[in-house]
Amino acid sequence: MILGLETSCDETAAAVVTDDGRVLSSVVSSQADLHARFGGVVPEVASRRHLELVAPVVRAALTEAGTGLDDVDRVAVTQGPGLVGALLVGISAAKALAWARGLPLVPVDHLEGHVASLYLEPDPLEPPFACLLASGGHTLLLAVRERGRSERLGTTLDDAAGEAFDKGARLLGLGYPGGAAIDRLAREGDPAAFAFPVARVPGLDFSFSGLKTALLYAVRDLDEDELDARRADLAASYQRAIVSALARRLTEAAERTGLDRVAVVGGVAANSELRSSLPDADFAPLALCTDNAAMIASCARFVEPVPYPRYRDVDAYASLA
Ligand code: KG4
Ligand code: ZN
Repeated sequence: MILGLETSCDETAAAVVTDDGRVLSSVVSSQADLHARFGGVVPEVASRRHLELVAPVVRAALTEAGTGLDDVDRVAVTQGPGLVGALLVGISAAKALAWARGLPLVPVDHLEGHVASLYLEPDPLEPPFACLLASGGHTLLLAVRERGRSERLGTTLDDAAGEAFDKGARLLGLGYPGGAAIDRLAREGDPAAFAFPVARVPGLDFSFSGLKTALLYAVRDLDEDELDARRADLAASYQRAIVSALARRLTEAAERTGLDRVAVVGGVAANSELRSSLPDADFAPLALCTDNAAMIASCARFVEPVPYPRYRDVDAYASLA
């Protein structure tokens, strides 16, 4: 059994996953409420909260799995990319747990972790496939030809897709994080009400910052009553622009690489319009779209463990390698 820890951003998460990919427990404690009044994640606040939560969350994951540390064979932890102070809390906790039991440590890349959310029971996906990873921090197109490794085909030149959702939600007065709120409100609106442009950039890259500016101008042109009346239309049109850009690029990636299966992972993979606009794609299970530790433990199955006691030097990294 693998005990996984994830603390790269504002979720403190621990999970127990078996070697054959069964999730015995997945506990996620979100700090979103703590950061909401700041309109985004405050790194220092996140680190302190991880410190308070990491031990109880690990304990809860073991209890829920009906197991104890005695039955754990290795400890997996997110190494990066993410907030370094936040990552270090998880890495220190994982090292301490592994060290105390003489277990190997498995450092996992957060983005490969998102992809590995597709490899869990009851419906594990087999490579090769083209994968869209769309989260609050990243928007990547990947060619996945073997588990645990992927090749980057394209990325965003400015905002991540989830960031575009969050910034849009903020402009619409929907609070933070806003992806799910836009998703809900958009169901009541007309996606054709506003013509929001999505920048066409070369290759397989994305750009969302112009879209955000277009929404800003549209909101500015309305008085308060008009904004109230059109909020759902704005949400639906804005979501349509993001979703169609993502879906189009993923389809193009599949055509260019000759990979005929496509998959979507990351927080934005929870979006209902994205899910319905790509009926043939494999989506990460809803519970495993946003950050969690089950995907980290899943990925650890395909990463070389660092044997005890050689992991003292394992360190966090902030950005994409
Ligand atoms: O993967 P994730 O939990 O964190 C990062 O690694 O960044 O993704 C969080 C992002 C946020 O930007 C959030 O607004 C977005 O995923 N998100 C959604 C939905 N649920 C979460 N975006 C659109 N529609 C949703 N239903
Ligand atoms: Zn993530």
